[in-house]
Amino acid sequence: MHDFKFKNNELFCERVRVAAVARAVGTPFYLYSYKTLTDHFTKIQTAFRRIDPIICYAMKANDNLSIVKALLNKGAGLDIVSGGELRKAIQLNADPKKIVFASVGKTEEEIALAIQERILFLNVESVPELETIDRVARRLHTRPQVAIRVNPDVEAATHDFITTGTLKKKFGVDLRSTRQILRTQKRFPHVRINGLHIHIGSQITQAKPFIDAIKKTLGFIESLRREGIELEYLDIGGGLGIIYRDEKPQTARDFAAAVLPMLTRSNLKIIMEPGRFIVGNAGIFVTKVLYTKDNGYKKFLIVDGGMNDLIRPSLYGSYHEIVPVKKTTAAKIKVDVVGPICESGDFFAKERSLPKMANNTLLAIMSAGAYGYTMSSNYNARCHVAEVIARGNRFFVIRKRQGFADLIKNERMPEFLK
Ligand code: LLP
Repeated sequence: MHDFKFKNNELFCERVRVAAVARAVGTPFYLYSYKTLTDHFTKIQTAFRRIDPIICYAMKANDNLSIVKALLNKGAGLDIVSGGELRKAIQLNADPKKIVFASVGKTEEEIALAIQERILFLNVESVPELETIDRVARRLHTRPQVAIRVNPDVEAATHDFITTGTLKKKFGVDLRSTRQILRTQKRFPHVRINGLHIHIGSQITQAKPFIDAIKKTLGFIESLRREGIELEYLDIGGGLGIIYRDEKPQTARDFAAAVLPMLTRSNLKIIMEPGRFIVGNAGIFVTKVLYTKDNGYKKFLIVDGGMNDLIRPSLYGSYHEIVPVKKTTAAKIKVDVVGPICESGDFFAKERSLPKMANNTLLAIMSAGAYGYTMSSNYNARCHVAEVIARGNRFFVIRKRQGFADLIKNERMPEFLK
């Protein structure tokens, strides 16, 4: 499943000792396996080969240029959510004909850039946005291709914050309004509406929600066809779940088996937007034990990483496996693994059974490759950590740790305070 394994009681990333990386770059840091990353992309590619979809890696999961480049080299397209991600894609010479852009709040500048770059689709999330795209396109004398992100109103059985395909959520356009837009598309002469997009949520481990959403959307497309409205593309979004603890997620092959028959029959060109599935288990977050504390009621393991570096446990109550980088036979105790930040929400695990550990012990927080670094912040004036990728027996720093100068470089002090 991934290339983080113990050999002689020591954790390796591919053939690199995690402890050796810690010595070289200090802690905390993110460490990725090139092999796991690219293998996961290939798994999806292989499972779906029959329909040859455009696999647009969701950059929001991890937008480090080297991670994205590794996937582009394997033939990935990109799913982007902002002008920043688009600029990163341009910087990497990504093929614009494999870029799709979804966001409920694209600004005019972002829309203009996407149009000028001639990306494959702007995925529209509301009528006012479609009007804006139409207006910007007229100004730029082009006719970009847009897809409507529909909200199919299906439950995704995942954390509420990452469920997106129900009408209680801000995402997409409901089916009735979508039909209305398509029936009156002459109102938008400067765009070519040529597809539908769905993305119902993230970390979905079962096939059923996907099947429900795709079935509903295909039925809808069929009903449009009967009205004489033809669309060429369906973007089925991302959302494939991975193993953090004891989940039994569908494999890429299971997923393909479940949805390929319908997709093949539809004759539509298919786009996919996996993020977590590709990069989630390809990365770990490595942190060091600073202190242990026992207040008579509870025991704490205080580490040098914090919620600003990896916010998933704090934000979603997410479970991440935690292992000492060197296996030990010490007796296990129940501890809260916490960071140095001034909030009780700053934890990586609660009441976790871990071996007793001395100060300076290195810990690996597993499955941290997706939505780890990308969601990190400078809270508490803490520097963004380093990122490293291992390939075979070598490792490469793909992002330097920030320094103090980075923290203050955009700050300005008005004269009257000096
Ligand atoms: N496409 C769209 C339009 C999306 O909004 C997302 C993720 C994806 C694709 C990729 O989904 P994936 O394959 O990675 O599940 N921060 C949360 C996850 C937020 C997902 C946001 N959208 C977490 O850490 O669990």
